[in-house]
Amino acid sequence: MFLNLPFLTAFLSCLACVLASPVKARAPVPAVTYLGSQGRILSGGAAAKGLVYTAGTVPSLNGTIVSGGIRNETAQVIRNIAAILEEGGTSWEYVLKTTVYLATMDDYAAMNEVYAAMLPNPKPARTAVEVGQLPGNFSVEIEAIAAIPEI
Ligand SMILES: *[C@@H]1O[C@H](CO)[C@@H](O)[C@H](O)[C@H]1NC(C)=O
Ligand SMILES: *[C@@H]1O[C@H](CO)[C@@H](O)[C@H](O)[C@H]1NC(C)=O
Ligand SMILES: *[C@@H]1O[C@H](CO)[C@@H](O)[C@H](O)[C@H]1NC(C)=O
Repeated sequence: MFLNLPFLTAFLSCLACVLASPVKARAPVPAVTYLGSQGRILSGGAAAKGLVYTAGTVPSLNGTIVSGGIRNETAQVIRNIAAILEEGGTSWEYVLKTTVYLATMDDYAAMNEVYAAMLPNPKPARTAVEVGQLPGNFSVEIEAIAAIPEI
């Protein structure tokens, strides 16, 4: 019988090197829960590893953008985010970071007035930027990252 010794040796040493090579540590895949039960009212969010990330949340109520200008829009966005946070087991009290997207910086002062009045202290870290255009007929969109408190 023909026995290919070099091949067998190569095969065995290769097998040995595979068995001996350390298993690479893989980062655990986070279990992500998507928060979507608010339906068309909200853009939703995702919770993982004790954090909730909201989507960019818009001033809609039952699928319709609220009227009344930047102050009313800001208030509605903050309430919509509150609903997402609640679904994720947290609240504005535990928000670490927000990003505020404004169609125009001319709305900054009015947005800030409502934001300052509605959010608990200490305020989360915030970035506020003018983006020029938002994907609908509204003037403000906000996203938030919150910790989920241990109960
Ligand atoms: C939004 O929809 C819910 C249920 O569909 C309804 O109970 C509520 O009155 C609506 N709110 C407004 C402001 O339209
Ligand atoms: C402000 O928004 C609310 C919904 O959050 C709406 O019921 C109300 O009519 C709006 N106010 C104005 C002045 O448009
Ligand atoms: C956009 O919303 C404003 C009020 O917030 C309204 O006056 C205007 O007609 C709307 N434009 C469109 C294209 O829906």
